[in-house]
Amino acid sequence: MRMMKLLTLIVGLCVAGSLGVRAAEVEVDLSKLPPPSTKKDLSFEKQILPIFKKSCVDCHGPDKQKAKLRVDSLEELLKGSRGEPVVVKGKSTKSKLLIAVARLGDPDEAMPPEGKGDPLTKEQVGLIRAWIDQGLKK
Ligand code: HEC
Repeated sequence: MRMMKLLTLIVGLCVAGSLGVRAAEVEVDLSKLPPPSTKKDLSFEKQILPIFKKSCVDCHGPDKQKAKLRVDSLEELLKGSRGEPVVVKGKSTKSKLLIAVARLGDPDEAMPPEGKGDPLTKEQVGLIRAWIDQGLKK
């Protein structure tokens, strides 16, 4: 009987431990975000869409909509994923999409997913960041 209690305790501690690790993984260290680009007047069509076409549209475009998200036009992007916004106008650090491309949040949500394309460069992430902060211009 004593043995069982001990076992339950050990299993319990392990579960709690792994949950703790998981929470730590998901915590986002915003200081690691690449700085916003200093370019002015960034536009979805000119600077952002080319990045998405290369790295995202295969899974988030006309053919496939993983997470029910499309990024092949600004209108589609603003609809978000299952009705949840993925970008917040003027607030890049609160934008799920930016955290995903900077690969700072849940590793399962890093975009493009591990092994499914090159991670975006710091410059590309900086452009997307500045574009969000500048107000998501078309
Ligand atoms: C190989 C396919 C693939 C590629 C390429 C890809 N994604 Fe994803 N994306 C997914 C899948 C699958 C999910 C769902 C992940 C999950 O919820 O665990 C997802 C989820 C997301 C989400 C989160 C949606 C939400 O609210 O849950 C965002 C934002 C996103 N992708 C943006 C992008 C961007 C931006 C790119 C390009 C830089 C990209 N993805 C490239 C497959 C892909």
